[in-house]
Amino acid sequence: MTTDNLLRNLEELQAKALDDLKASSSQEAVEQWRVAYMGRRGELTQVLRGLAPLAPEERRIVGAAANKVKALLEEGLAGAEDAIKSAALQAMAEQGRIDVTLPGRPVPLGRLHPTTQILREICAAFVSMGFQVVEGPEVEWDHYNFEMLNIPKDHPARDMWDTLWVDHVDEQGERPMLLRTHTSPMQIHTMENTEPPIRVLVPGKCYRYEATDATHESQFYQVEGLAVDEGITFADLKGTLYEFARLLFGADRKVRFRVDYFPFVEPGAEMAIDCFACKGEGVGCRVCKGTGWIEIMGAGMVNPKVLEGVGYDSSKYTGFAFGMGAERIAMLKYGIEDIRLFHNNDLRFLGQF
Ligand code: PHE
Repeated sequence: MTTDNLLRNLEELQAKALDDLKASSSQEAVEQWRVAYMGRRGELTQVLRGLAPLAPEERRIVGAAANKVKALLEEGLAGAEDAIKSAALQAMAEQGRIDVTLPGRPVPLGRLHPTTQILREICAAFVSMGFQVVEGPEVEWDHYNFEMLNIPKDHPARDMWDTLWVDHVDEQGERPMLLRTHTSPMQIHTMENTEPPIRVLVPGKCYRYEATDATHESQFYQVEGLAVDEGITFADLKGTLYEFARLLFGADRKVRFRVDYFPFVEPGAEMAIDCFACKGEGVGCRVCKGTGWIEIMGAGMVNPKVLEGVGYDSSKYTGFAFGMGAERIAMLKYGIEDIRLFHNNDLRFLGQF
């Protein structure tokens, strides 16, 4: 064969191969094409092999042309493979298309326990008035829970706070440790560890040896407040608690203070708000039991004996303290009728907050 013939054959081969490739639209067809032209016995492979016996000059010319064809076919092959792959992807995407208009599956969302919510709300109200939140131990010494709060042994006021004692006996044969009955011992800890001015708020768990019913639990939360400074008066107590009542229960709340007794305050008071359910009307109201008022906490001016007890000069410093049951506040605010619900872990209850 002459060089010209060889070159023409190559041209024809190239044209035919490229036509065939165009017609190969599946992966298998393209693979067959590859084998037919570029496989071990492929047409182009054979041409390349057939170059060996040629004269060097001829081989150079035909070889160069054959390599060009080979490069062209390889390029064509790569292009065809790409096209098939992207067509397959496209088809897959069409088939498995996601319908973004379908509604999603709801993910159950957790939420804060109503006690946590009310504690945060109470704290936020007092923090906005400059109080600092601190916490104390749930296991206390008799000394802090009672003695330092002006409740000596055999004081009848101890009857108000029967509690759970820790099985630990000191040298005198006494049980000096208990689960705290109120957060008031933190008044003493705070005063022992700092100097006035003091404005602290103490949320925390308390315990009482109590038969449970709709309004009593042996475990509950209190929030204690204490402010000590020069020149603090009962007017400060009233103003602070009035603001608190309005923040939690609405701007039109009225408050009422009546005398009450707690050994660690003098004078002591019980604070009530006008019933937000019946607007103080009373008659037939379940929330305030017909009285028009709802008691929400105990409060009072810190007893000078307590101030002296921690080494404060009671002629220089005065203060007020208050304490409220957190669940009770939540019960009022959310209309919960049984305190035991707070610990039942019933999602039907908890899911409502
Ligand atoms: N500690 C009291 C109680 O548990 C409440 C209280 C706190 C009263 C501070 C007055 C001042 O009932």
